Amino acid sequence: MRIAIVSDIHANLAAFEAVLAHARSVGYDSMVCLGDVVGYGPDPVECVDLVREHCEWTLLGNHDFAAVYEPTNFNTVAAKAVFWTRAQTLEGEWLRRRIAELQQARDEDRISDAEFLDRKCGAEVEQRERVDFMFRISPRRILLDRYVCVHASPSRPVNEYLFPNDVEANPKRLERNFGLLTLPGPDGDRRVSAIVGHTHCPGFILEAPPDPVEIARVEAEHARTHGEGAAPSLLEMARARIPRRYEFEAFPVGADTWTPNDDEMPEGCRFILNPGSVGQPRDGDPRASYAMLEVGENGARDRFVFHRVAYDIGRTQSRLRAYMAAGAPLDDWLAERLERGQ
Ligand SMILES: [Fe+2]
Repeated sequence: MRIAIVSDIHANLAAFEAVLAHARSVGYDSMVCLGDVVGYGPDPVECVDLVREHCEWTLLGNHDFAAVYEPTNFNTVAAKAVFWTRAQTLEGEWLRRRIAELQQARDEDRISDAEFLDRKCGAEVEQRERVDFMFRISPRRILLDRYVCVHASPSRPVNEYLFPNDVEANPKRLERNFGLLTLPGPDGDRRVSAIVGHTHCPGFILEAPPDPVEIARVEAEHARTHGEGAAPSLLEMARARIPRRYEFEAFPVGADTWTPNDDEMPEGCRFILNPGSVGQPRDGDPRASYAMLEVGENGARDRFVFHRVAYDIGRTQSRLRAYMAAGAPLDDWLAERLERGQ
C-alpha cells in the first residue's frame, strides 16, 4: 500500500500538477494532505479543487486557518496574501470573474442565453461546494497507519515550527513534542512517530538512543548507591532521565529521490518526518517536494521515499506578477523566492 503525502501546496498550481503527474507515474493507492493548501501562491481556487478531488483527507494548516478565520503571527507580506486569497475563494472573486467571462461569451454570441444560464448556475454550485470544503477543513491531528499526522507539531498542531536546527538550538522543544507521541493500546501506551509539514524542509528529526557513555555513567552511579542488581525500578527511572539526542537528516542536496536507509532511520528509533513543500520549498532546492509512505506488508518495515519534482516555476511567477500588475496586494518576493527555493 502506497500513500502519497503532500503538504504546503500554497496555491502553486503548476507545482501541484507536476507532483500529481509524478505520483501517478510512480503509482499510489491514496493521497493525503498535511495542510496549507492556500496562501502565497496565485491559484488558490484551482488548488483547493484539486485537493478536494485527489486527497483522502486534509489537515488544517495555519494559512488555511488564516484564510477562513484570521492570520496568526503573519508578517505583512503573508497577511496581505492571505486576505487576497480570501477574496479569491470565500468572497467570490473567482465567481465574479467566471460570470464576467460567460457574459462576454454570450455578448459575443459564442454561447446562447440558455447555455449562459446553465454555466452560470454550474459555477455558483461549484463556488458553494468549494466554500463549504474550506470551512470544513478542520482536523488538526489524524492517525495514518501508525503515524500521528499534524500540520505543524504534535504540541501545537497548527502553528509551532519544528526546525532542523532545533536538534541543537531547542532540544527541549523536541523532547516536549516526542513526549506527546504516545497512543493508548491494550498493552499500555505505544510510542509512535509523527509526520508534519509547516517548515517546508524535507527530512526527518530522529530521536536517537541516549549516549552509551552516559548510560554507563548512570548505571555505575546506581550500582555505587544501591548495589549491583538492586532497585531495578530506580535504575529504570535514572535511565529515563538521561537526555535524548536528536539528529536531523535532510533530503540530500541535488538528489531526485531519497529512501532513508537503516543507518539513517534505525529500526526502533522514533522520528518526526516532513515531506517538504509542494508549492514553496525552503531548503534551497526549488523543485516541488513530497513523500510516499510504503506501508510494510506482513511485518516488513515501512519505507518512506522522498521525491523532488521539477515544475514550470516561470508559470507560477507570471501568474503572480499578472495579478500584481492588475493591482493585487501581492509582493514580488513571493515570485522571486520560488526560483531560489527559499
Ligand atoms: Fe506552509
